[in-house]
Amino acid sequence: MHVLSAVLLLAACKLVSAAPTPLFGIDLGEININTDGKTTDADTVPFSQDEITNTLVRPALFARVVYCSSPSVVNMTCGEQCDALPNVKILVAGGDDKRVPNFFVAHDVDTETIVVAHQGTEPANLLSDLNDLNFFQVDANTTVLPKANKDVKMHDGFADTQERTADLVLSTVRSALKSTGAKKVLVTGHSLGAAIASIDGMMLRMKLDPSIAVTTTVFGLPRVGNQAWADLVDSTLGSSFTHVTNQHDPVTQVPPQFADFQHPSNEIHITAVDPSGIIATAQRCPGQENQNCAPGNNLLDFNIDNHRGPYFQNISMANRFCPV
Ligand SMILES: *[C@@H]1O[C@H](CO)[C@@H](O)[C@H](O)[C@H]1NC(C)=O
Ligand SMILES: *[C@@H]1O[C@H](CO)[C@@H](O)[C@H](O)[C@H]1NC(C)=O
Ligand SMILES: *[C@@H]1O[C@H](CO)[C@@H](O)[C@H](O)[C@H]1NC(C)=O
Repeated sequence: MHVLSAVLLLAACKLVSAAPTPLFGIDLGEININTDGKTTDADTVPFSQDEITNTLVRPALFARVVYCSSPSVVNMTCGEQCDALPNVKILVAGGDDKRVPNFFVAHDVDTETIVVAHQGTEPANLLSDLNDLNFFQVDANTTVLPKANKDVKMHDGFADTQERTADLVLSTVRSALKSTGAKKVLVTGHSLGAAIASIDGMMLRMKLDPSIAVTTTVFGLPRVGNQAWADLVDSTLGSSFTHVTNQHDPVTQVPPQFADFQHPSNEIHITAVDPSGIIATAQRCPGQENQNCAPGNNLLDFNIDNHRGPYFQNISMANRFCPV
């Protein structure tokens, strides 16, 4: 069944590159990509403007600015995207926008937080990468995630990409906590960067002293691993992990559940954004794969623009939103 399904999705993804909407093509309209995994239809809870402002806006500003080129980010001279984050000192920035997506570790002086951010990739590229990689799963790397057991399987491309910066991120965060006296870490990213940030958040929670608060808040997250991965994220990060889905973003629904991928709990789902891009209506979605949120989206309603944003406060994330 999995082989057949993978072939069907492969065909569907080819269709995608030719004609982006509807994502999975009319012929596949009867196939629900989000079956075979654990789901819930627990009631959602409204998520207020204040909660958005207090918990999501700052991570989103960091997830946006990491799309700017490393040289322009080093001194926070990238323009509007950098100016939205005054008093931020970049400690390490790197990446080549390809094999190693841009990333940085920074000291957010105003909030006394060490911030780790990872850049994403264009959604069409991400969808085609997911296609090329055929959803291949590997065992979790126990050097990175010492508490992962043999049941935990992860998308090989996401795991590989995270490993390329894992040691530098960890050592920089450790020395930054020491030198600044900060007691908080924020890990964020969008798209592929959200996948890397999720693994980073798990790594940092497992490796840093428990007295350090680690918050992981990501946007447009594809599925990173299997059911055991989702359960390990829930038990390790609990409510310190949040993944934000915007309306009908298809990237948040790949790889599909039928290929044995599962999202952790703590989705915040944006159901509408006003035309100015500033005011979002959002809800908290209890449980894993809540059918009242993004996992319940109709296959034919996917909208790739929702992946880039705006999410709220007119914050959009992609290379085109930081051409410097
Ligand atoms: C950043 O600032 C430092 C110190 O002011 C300077 O030496 C360096 O050239 C700047 N780098 C860039 C890329 O502007
Ligand atoms: C695990 O990740 C580390 C980076 O922390 C890397 O050096 C190592 O090669 C990886 N191990 C495997 C088996 O992939
Ligand atoms: C929202 O952001 C876009 C792209 O960055 C910009 O072109 C537009 O003027 C902004 N709109 C508002 C209302 O600020």
